[in-house]
Amino acid sequence: MFEEGIGAGIYTDDEAFKELGLLATSRSDCLSKANLIITLQPLSNEELDLVTKGSTILGTVNPFYNQNHINECKKRGINLVSMEFIPRITRAQKMDVLSSQANLAGYSAVIESAKHLSKGLPMMMTAAGTLKPARVFVIGVGVAGLQAIATAKRLGARVEAFDTRDVVEEQVNSLGAKFVKIDLGETGQNDQGYANELTPEQIQKQKDLQSKVCARSDIVITTAQLFGRPAPRLIDEKTISQMQPGSVIFDMAVESGGNVEGSEIDQVVIKNGVKIIGISNLTSTVSSHASLALSNNFNHWICDFYKKELKKIEFNFEDEIIKSSVLVHEGEILNERFK
Ligand code: NAI
Repeated sequence: MFEEGIGAGIYTDDEAFKELGLLATSRSDCLSKANLIITLQPLSNEELDLVTKGSTILGTVNPFYNQNHINECKKRGINLVSMEFIPRITRAQKMDVLSSQANLAGYSAVIESAKHLSKGLPMMMTAAGTLKPARVFVIGVGVAGLQAIATAKRLGARVEAFDTRDVVEEQVNSLGAKFVKIDLGETGQNDQGYANELTPEQIQKQKDLQSKVCARSDIVITTAQLFGRPAPRLIDEKTISQMQPGSVIFDMAVESGGNVEGSEIDQVVIKNGVKIIGISNLTSTVSSHASLALSNNFNHWICDFYKKELKKIEFNFEDEIIKSSVLVHEGEILNERFK
C-alpha cells in the first residue's frame, strides 16, 4: 500500500506505483492496515493511535530530539527501527541513510553557495582577462564534506579543507584539495569513526587558526557534526568580520545547533556583507535522487531482515545491524541512551 499522492515531490504520480502492483489508499488506511510502515518523518501521536500493536515502523526518527516519539512507540507496543543507528560497518553501507543523504547534501551545499556568490567558481581565461578560480574552504570532512570538496573541485574551485580527524588528510589530498593543518593536540575519533568532542580551549584555538583561511575564502562550507550532541560552534563574529564582503558561508549544521554564529534555518543572514546560509532538509533540493537513495537504503534493510517464509521481520538481536538500529521492540526500549 502507499499513501495517495506520495510521489508528487519527485514528479511520480500514483499510476506509476499502481503499475508496480501497489494499492493506493489514504494515509490513515496505510497506518491502520500495515504491519510494516516505512516513513521518512516520525508519525504524530494521533497517527500512532492508528497503528496496530506489534507493527514495525522503519524510518528516520531524529532520535536525539524525539524521545517522546520513542516513549510513545514503547507505550503502544509498536516496534521502532531508527535508520540513524545503522552501524558504520561495511556490510551496512547499503542501508546507511545518513551517508546517502549527507553525500547529496554536500553536493547541494556547493550548488546553493555558488548561486549566492557573485563570482564563478572556475578559472576562466578570456579575452577580457583572466578570472581567478574561487576559493572554497570546507570545515568537517565526513561524508558531506568529502562530496562538497569533490563538487567544488569539479566546478573548478581551489579547495581547502580541515577536520579534527587527521586520518582524512589523505582523502582530502586524493580529491585534489589541500588539507589545512591545525594542531589542536589530542583529538581523534570513536569506534564508529565519529569525531570526539573538543575542549573549549581546543575550539578556541581552532577558531583562531582557521580564521585566516576563512578570510581568504569566497565560500566556506561548514559540515562539522558530533553524533548525538549539538554541532560545535566554529565560526564567530570575529571570523566573519575578517571575511570579504560578498563571500558566502554555508552552515550545513544549522539544524543541529549551527557551526556559525548568527546562522538561521532557511534564511540568508547578511553580516558585514557576508552571506550566511542555512537550509533545512537540504536534500529536498535534489529530491528525486534523495528519494531514490533513501528507498534503496530502506529496501536493503527489508531484504536482509524480512523473512518471506515467516511473512515478518526477523528480529535477531545477534545481528549487529538489528541490535543497533532497533530502538523499541515488544514494548521495550533497547538502546540505553533512550531508556
Ligand atoms: P558527521 O556528519 O558526524 O560529522 C561531519 C564531520 O565533522 C566529521 O568528519 C567530523 O570529524 C567533523 N568534525 C567534528 N567536529 C569538528 C570540528 N571541531 N572541526 C572540524 N571538523 C569537525 O560525520 P559522518 O559523515 O557521518 O562520518 C562519521 C564517520 O563515519 C567518519 O569517520 C566516516 O568515515 C565514517 N563512515 C563510515 C561508514 C561505513 O563504514 N559504513 C559510512 C559513512 C561514514
